[in-house]
This record gives sequence, C-alpha cells and structure tokens, in this order.
Amino acid sequence: MANKEFDVVVIGAGPGGYVAAIRAAQLGFSVACVEKWVNPADKMVLGGTCLNVGCIPSKALLASSEEFEKVGHHLADHGISTSDVKIDIAQMLKRKQGIVDKMTGGIEFLFKKNKITWLKGHGELKAKNDGGYQIDVSPVKDGEKASVTARNVIIATGSKARHLPGMPVDNKLISDNEGALSFDTVPKKLGVIGAGVIGLELGSVWRRLGAEVTVLEAMPEFLAAADAGVAKEAAKQFKKQGLDINVGVKVGEVKTGKDNVTINYTDKDGKEHTLDVDRLIVSVGRVPNTDGLGLGNIGLATDERGFIPVDDHCRTKLPNVFAIGDVVRGPMLAHKAEDEGVLVAEVIAGQKPHIDYNCIPWVIYTSPEIAWVGKTEQQLKAEGREFKPGQFPFAANGRALGMGSSDGFVKVLADAKTDEILGVHVIGLNASDLIAEAVVAMEFKAASEDIGRICHPHPSLSEVMREAALDVEKRALNK
Ligand code: FAD
Ligand code: NAI
Repeated sequence: MANKEFDVVVIGAGPGGYVAAIRAAQLGFSVACVEKWVNPADKMVLGGTCLNVGCIPSKALLASSEEFEKVGHHLADHGISTSDVKIDIAQMLKRKQGIVDKMTGGIEFLFKKNKITWLKGHGELKAKNDGGYQIDVSPVKDGEKASVTARNVIIATGSKARHLPGMPVDNKLISDNEGALSFDTVPKKLGVIGAGVIGLELGSVWRRLGAEVTVLEAMPEFLAAADAGVAKEAAKQFKKQGLDINVGVKVGEVKTGKDNVTINYTDKDGKEHTLDVDRLIVSVGRVPNTDGLGLGNIGLATDERGFIPVDDHCRTKLPNVFAIGDVVRGPMLAHKAEDEGVLVAEVIAGQKPHIDYNCIPWVIYTSPEIAWVGKTEQQLKAEGREFKPGQFPFAANGRALGMGSSDGFVKVLADAKTDEILGVHVIGLNASDLIAEAVVAMEFKAASEDIGRICHPHPSLSEVMREAALDVEKRALNK
C-alpha cells in the first residue's frame, strides 16, 4: 500500500470511529480507519454496532411493528376499517436490511469523499516507534496484511453483548441483540432477560407482531435510571400493552430443548417459577470490546470493568493515543460516541472542544417513547438540591389527540432559586425529537421561563414542553 504513515489512524468504524475519521479528514489530516465487520451477505461494511445490529435496524423493526399494530388495532377510531391484516416477516427483514445497507454504503461513500483510507481487517497495536505507533492489520476477508504508523491513534472498538453463564447464545433459540433483530418467524412465546433498553425495545417489537412476551429483570425497581415518575407511567403503559414485566427476579437454570427454552426463576417474593418459551433474548448490558487489540504491546491496560481509562478529552495515559465511544466510560450511546469522535479530532488539531456529559440525552424507543436529559427528581433529592417541578400531559394537547396518541407527559425540573433547567423528562409520542429542545436549553443554561416565553407552533407536540416549563411557576395556560 502507498501510504504507510498517517496523521491519524482510527481503529473501529462505528459511530465513534467513522465520525472521528471524517472530522479529522475535514481538519486536513491524512486518515486511515481499520474496520473488520463482515455482514450476513459476507460483505465487509462500515458503521459498527449502531448501523449493523443496533440503533438503525432496531428502529426499522420498531417502525414496521408500530405500523402493523396501528393498522390492526388503532384505525377503527378514525373510521377506517381493515381486515385480515398480515405481516410478512421476510419482507420486514428485507426492508430493515435495505436501510442498513443504504446507511453503511453511505459511510463508504463519505470515506471516499473525505479521502479516508479504509484498512480492511483486524487492527492490532504492535509497538511504539519513532514516528508514532505501529498498527498491524490482518485481513478477515478482503484486503491484505498491512502495517502502518499512526502519529495519533483513536481507539473506537466499541462493545459487545454481555452473555451469561449457562445461557449459550446461538442466535437461534437464545439470542442477543444480533439474533433478536433477525427472527425469521414471530415466536409464540418470547422470554427476555433484562428489562433495559434492548429488552424493552425489542420485546415491544415482537409483542406488537404477536408474541406473548415475558420480561425477567433482576433489579427490584423498573427502569431505575429514568425519572421515577416516568418509570411509573412507563410500567403502566407497558402492562396495558401486554408486556409481562417481572422485577426483582433471580434467574436460575436455563435449559434448551429442540425448539424451546425453559427458564427457572425465583420471583421477588421468593416463589419459584418455570417459564417455557420458543425463544429467549438475553439483554443484560454490553461490555467494552478490546479483543486482540494489543493494548499491552504499547503499555495500556483496561480497568477492572474492561474499559480503557481516559480523561475528559478522551486521552489515554499515552501521548497521542485516544479512546472514544462504548470502549470508554460514560453512556453507551451512539451520539455520545459521535461527539467524542469530533472532540478528539479537534483536540488533535489543537482546538479546545468540550462535552457536557450532563447534557447527553437518553431515548428509549418504546411506544410511547421515553427521553430525558439532565437530572432525575430522585437524583436531585439525593443531592439535596432544591428544585421546582413542572408537568404537563399530552392528553391536554390538541395535536396529540388528533394524532391518536395522548399518553404520557413532559416534566421540567428547575432550580428553586435561579430557575435554571436541571432536567427534562418526556414520555410520549416523538419524545426523541422533543427532547432536543431541552438539550439546547440546558446547553445554553436556560431557565424554565426561557422555554415558557418562546413561541411554539400550534398545534404541535412541542407545546407540551412549553406548558410543562410554564408549570414550574404554576402558570401553565391549559392546565
Ligand atoms: P461500535 O458501534 O460498537 O463500533 C465498533 C467497531 O469497531 C465495530 O465495527 C467493530 O467491528 C470494530 N472493531 C472492534 N475491534 C476492532 C479491531 N481490533 N480491528 C478492527 N475493527 C475493530 N445507541 C443510541 O444512541 N441510540 C439507539 O437507538 C441505540 N440502539 C441500539 C440498539 C441495539 C440493539 C444495540 C445493541 C445498541 C444500540 N445503541 C443505541 C448503542 C450504540 O449502538 C452504541 O453506543 C454505538 O454503536 C457505540 O459506537 P462505537 O463507535 O463506540 O462502537
Ligand atoms: P441495559 O444496561 O440497558 O439493561 C440491562 C438490564 O438487564 C438491566 O436492567 C439489568 O438490571 C438487567 N440484568 C442484568 N443482569 C441480569 C440478570 N442476570 N437477570 C435479569 N436481569 C439482569 O442493557 P441492554 O438493554 O442490554 O442494552 C445495552 C446498552 O445498549 C444500553 O445500556 C444502551 O447503552 C445501549 N442501547 C441504547 C439504546 C437507545 O439508546 N435507545 C437502545 C438499545 C441499546
């Protein structure tokens, strides 16, 4: 290969790595990105977990299942009658894969446009040398063996599903996220271990398509990371939809038969149960991925949880070696990885970027969606911070009623003295988009009064955000 030395070599082309590569190229650096992902069609692709087996395919299936449920159950109210509604799972999966292919192909186009060299294969840090760091690339399919020197290294190797002992994932009977995004039939009975983000999103998908879904969660509280009021509303909505969520359980022996899985578990009251399902999803979190990366060869090590230690600017303890995304501390979210990718490229360029981790939004794409930014009510109480809450329901919003989706509310938490917004929590239709206003407001250190005084379009769901902000001073207009 022509250029064996690069200003920047990124290892991993998920949302952290590919964005870092593009930003570094925009800043004028020579950039290479090592990536080894091979998709089900045996093609090497960019995009990592997010595009291939994460954010993008899951949202495609969520949309298909929501349409199916809508046509089957929610159109009569509009005076629209339907009969014999069917779902063609093969077509649904084909559509999902089409979206994934379009997105991963898009990154390949962006790499070419930005003159980023894609080093196809597995990257391993080999040694520190005069020019920087030596990285060896071993082909996994296409491509050739290569050894390159990086003046700056960005490690963006992401994460992988955590598996549990005694529950071998074959992505047929027992699946992690990969299998759960590709079931070729709707299971009659589906078990889900872990009521976290994946369990709730994918459990909802298959429930809407007809599966009887039982979720087993170890923690005594449901959605402990969310605001307690939101978690309570979510539990109510999911129960109404038929998701059977059991908290405080201890999963015991799991046995696989020819075409079923039997799970023994103890419930929160100590009673023993046996659950028989056609398929089981194990969604108990993800672990950072540093397999075969050669960290030790250059004097780096992971912490006790497997993450690469970094500072606020994603610097490791070695000069010119950075790590970003799921492989470092902080939430395992695509937009967090992307922002760290931009930040590191700009640090390398001598700029002074900053990420406020308190302003990274969370979204759970269930129906209704759940989104939040900043502190929850229980966190503020634990910190002893005085705050005023404001809350407004979608049920009092004309647009939500017109759209036939008026469950949930927006809640704004503001400092009792200064009125600065400390946290915003949304459960309801399009929460993923509505939360962006709150993120902007918090980044600008806005007060709840600022949102309350800004003109919002009518009729729109965004009016619920404004009314919740006004409700902080108990001056909501439609409550
Ligand atoms: P990854 O996307 O994991 O990419 C790492 C890349 O590095 C991979 O392509 C891998 O092949 C490559 N790699 C690793 N080691 C090497 C090596 N030695 N050599 C070469 N290549 C290597 N987040 C959201 O924000 N919103 C969502 O809606 C959302 N939905 C999700 C749904 C599911 C089912 C899952 C599993 C995750 C979801 N996430 C979501 C999380 C999101 O996917 C991750 O936070 C994000 O992908 C992390 O990006 P990353 O760049 O750090 O790593
Ligand atoms: P998670 O951390 O969200 O949830 C895992 C759940 O499993 C927790 O509630 C935990 O208490 C439970 N659990 C752990 N061990 C258990 C056991 N032995 N028995 C029963 N329950 C057990 O992890 P999940 O859902 O696997 O997702 C991984 C990560 O991927 C998320 O944390 C998130 O960062 C990312 N993601 C983000 C999405 C989004 O932004 N919308 C969507 C999907 C994933």
